Amino acid sequence: MYSPKLSLTLAALAFTASSLATLPFGHYGPEGAVLYLNGFHFVSGHTDQEISANHWCVIIRDDLLQCAVYNTATTPARLAGVEYIITKDAFETLDHEERQLWHSHAYEITSGFLIEPGLPASVDHTIMKDVLVNTYGKTFHTWRYDQQNSTYPIGIPELVMGYTRDDQITPDFVLRRDELFGVNTTEVRAAREDICPDAVLQGADSWKYGYVLTLGIVNKTAEIIFDKNPGESPLQ
Ligand SMILES: *[C@@H]1O[C@H](CO)[C@@H](O)[C@H](O)[C@H]1NC(C)=O
Ligand SMILES: *[C@@H]1O[C@H](CO)[C@@H](O)[C@H](O)[C@H]1NC(C)=O
Ligand SMILES: *[C@@H]1O[C@H](CO)[C@@H](O)[C@H](O)[C@H]1NC(C)=O
Repeated sequence: MYSPKLSLTLAALAFTASSLATLPFGHYGPEGAVLYLNGFHFVSGHTDQEISANHWCVIIRDDLLQCAVYNTATTPARLAGVEYIITKDAFETLDHEERQLWHSHAYEITSGFLIEPGLPASVDHTIMKDVLVNTYGKTFHTWRYDQQNSTYPIGIPELVMGYTRDDQITPDFVLRRDELFGVNTTEVRAAREDICPDAVLQGADSWKYGYVLTLGIVNKTAEIIFDKNPGESPLQ
């Protein structure tokens, strides 16, 4: 669970947004974001498909964050997908198959790969250590990596994962991110040396077990569910 202090800090930040939640039509967007993160994803099954992703996260519960994920350095920023972040305690409640869709955050944090652009170092350190280090993320990208140059978001969503070691990502890719955001991952890593994550739980980062999970479309013959409109011809 988050430390009580941090929950309060995040809750205070979320106050403005939560007042919107009383509107009868609900909270209508990502305005309530309390965390802005940049980190890396790779497409499940495609270790060469590296993505720099900007996350804007809102609090759903004290053990669940929800982040809108945007591609870095596109204007207007393209919505890449969504990441749900849960605590270790919440992850422990998931069944064997569900766990395999999630990735651990421990290394993303100790490595310095995950950053909070613009936050003072001390605040970054507290959030990484007390809120994020033992969390797990489940992320689907709706704008596919292999369609990054397309005018429209073609195709179906894809599952992405997080890195767990240095040799999995191209050093130049990290360097370009650092230049873009004016940070130094080596220094961020050094500043987090005292953060000791718990062991990653069974099931997360499922690629390490020797198989990859990807999404597919299911197209099955079915009875027509609705009557067709009068005079409408069947799809040719
Ligand atoms: C997108 O375009 C860039 C620049 O031309 C190119 O380097 C990259 O390989 C392209 N990506 C894909 C997935 O086709
Ligand atoms: C990042 O910081 C390290 C340690 O201070 C330094 O050796 C390295 O040159 C820095 N990298 C860049 C690109 O400035
Ligand atoms: C689904 O299958 C039907 C029947 O083979 C085909 O006509 C249709 O184009 C398929 N749709 C997709 C999205 O694959």
